[in-house]
Amino acid sequence: HLSGRRARPLEGVRVLVTAGPTHEPIDPVRYLANRSSGRQGYAVAAAAQALGADTVLVTGPTALAPPDGVETVKVETADEMLAACEAALPADIGIFAAAVADWRVKSRSEEKLKKTAKEATTAFELAENPDILRTIASRKTGRPRLVIGFAAETENVVANATAKLETKGCDWIVANDVSPETGVMGGQENTVHLVTAEGAESWPKLGKDEVARRLVDRIADTLAETGG
Ligand code: CTP
Ligand code: CA
Repeated sequence: HLSGRRARPLEGVRVLVTAGPTHEPIDPVRYLANRSSGRQGYAVAAAAQALGADTVLVTGPTALAPPDGVETVKVETADEMLAACEAALPADIGIFAAAVADWRVKSRSEEKLKKTAKEATTAFELAENPDILRTIASRKTGRPRLVIGFAAETENVVANATAKLETKGCDWIVANDVSPETGVMGGQENTVHLVTAEGAESWPKLGKDEVARRLVDRIADTLAETGG
């Protein structure tokens, strides 16, 4: 019902978006990270802003320019990303598109490790990083009313994403198939399934900007239905 749709349906709605990888330092020159261009999260932030949302983007290191009109907070580690997200609350909507490193190196070296150092050939001790999505989704107070996670999977995409709805305590999961044959990783396009308590809806292969627009349109529709 395009005629009935307002041009800026997210006016007055605060949207928090995470994007990009996190970098977990090993020493001053090396880090542990996930593969992530940040494109999908940046596209979501831009799309939310275009619908009138008051948008804050908390981003790990990427090569992308901050979207126009979006308050952008640059962070490096998962710990910093969680702190920046908490500082950005309250928000009505939380969209967690970052590829957060699951682990950090327990004790980072202040000095550059030499390649002959024993850590380089034996093992680093790792500690688990905070789960930003789960932490925000399980807040007793100040939980955004719609919490959306992303899940990159290479197999059993919908089943794995459905399980994550529960473990993360979020409302929706945007599951993307990143198996090598899709060519999605680092690319301009995405093949996603929107997984909610009602079930999964598979979207065709779309540009990341188009995925973002569909997602924020869906958010606007949901807010309108629930009296937002
Ligand atoms: N996520 C997060 N903080 C983390 C890990 C993940 O906020 N420390 C968020 C991601 O931004 C994404 C969602 O959780 O929205 C799912 O990430 P994913 O890596 O698929 O979930 P994990 O629970 O880390 O599971 P896996 O073992 O499959 O990596
Ligand atoms: Ca993970």
